[in-house]
Amino acid sequence: MLVSAKEMIQAAYAGHYAIGAFNTNNLEWTKAILQAAEEMRAPVIVQVSEGAGKYMAGFKNVADIVKNVMEFQKTSVPVALHLDHGTYAGCKACIEAGFSSIMFDGSSLPFDENIEKTKELVAICNEKGMSIEAEVGSIGGEEDGVVGMGECADPEECKTIADLGITMLAAGIGNIHGKYPEGWPGLRFDVLDAIKAKVGDMPLVLHGGSGIPDAMVQDAIRRGVSKINVNTECQLAFAEKTRAYIEAGKDIQGKGYDPRKLLAPGAQGIVDMVKYKIEVFGCAGKA
Ligand code: 13P
Repeated sequence: MLVSAKEMIQAAYAGHYAIGAFNTNNLEWTKAILQAAEEMRAPVIVQVSEGAGKYMAGFKNVADIVKNVMEFQKTSVPVALHLDHGTYAGCKACIEAGFSSIMFDGSSLPFDENIEKTKELVAICNEKGMSIEAEVGSIGGEEDGVVGMGECADPEECKTIADLGITMLAAGIGNIHGKYPEGWPGLRFDVLDAIKAKVGDMPLVLHGGSGIPDAMVQDAIRRGVSKINVNTECQLAFAEKTRAYIEAGKDIQGKGYDPRKLLAPGAQGIVDMVKYKIEVFGCAGKA
């Protein structure tokens, strides 16, 4: 059964660790994320972007795949299924499809509109027992064609959105989706601390979790980050292992072309990466 992310996030905030939120892209990803979380006894958030949702033949299919894999793999750790960077329409569709959590990304809207739509979605989520993440200050880099400039969020705006009754808040602090460019100066802890000072006990979300040095991630957790999003590093792990398999000519030996063989090393790469991140985030054994 899927659960809201509220309880796991609040426990993480109180216990000074972070929940890993891993983007799924297909069946292999879903199986791998759930397997890793189970092996680590860690609560986990499986999340999907709107683009990946389309790729997976719709949000209803995503919800069914996650629930069916959980049943088949006998998943016993708490799992939330979350929409990543949702539009207003995408949030509505995921609520319908049976997700247990959504992110409404109104960061590119005029601030008043971000407030209004966030408020409306908070009311629906409260009624349905779902968790909701909101965003202030777009995250840098590109994800699914959404390009952010990497601005830092305004702490006052963070406070206004945090006070709307959301579960967790994503705020730009110099983080970027995808690979970090050469010479990236690192997370802006001064901004993180200023936001924290305004929003009090609101758990914060760190997007663009791939490629940030582990010690910097752990510092962010100490300063109030309770959910960390990871996508690119799982994709890189999958691609690297798959490339090695093909470059070694294994796909042309015997039945090495069988997708169950061809995709196995990449899938194991995702399992290993998710387990590694769970360890770094301090949430192993917290289920
Ligand atoms: P990365 O792809 O950089 O890990 O970012 C993931 C993310 O923040 C999803 O919202």
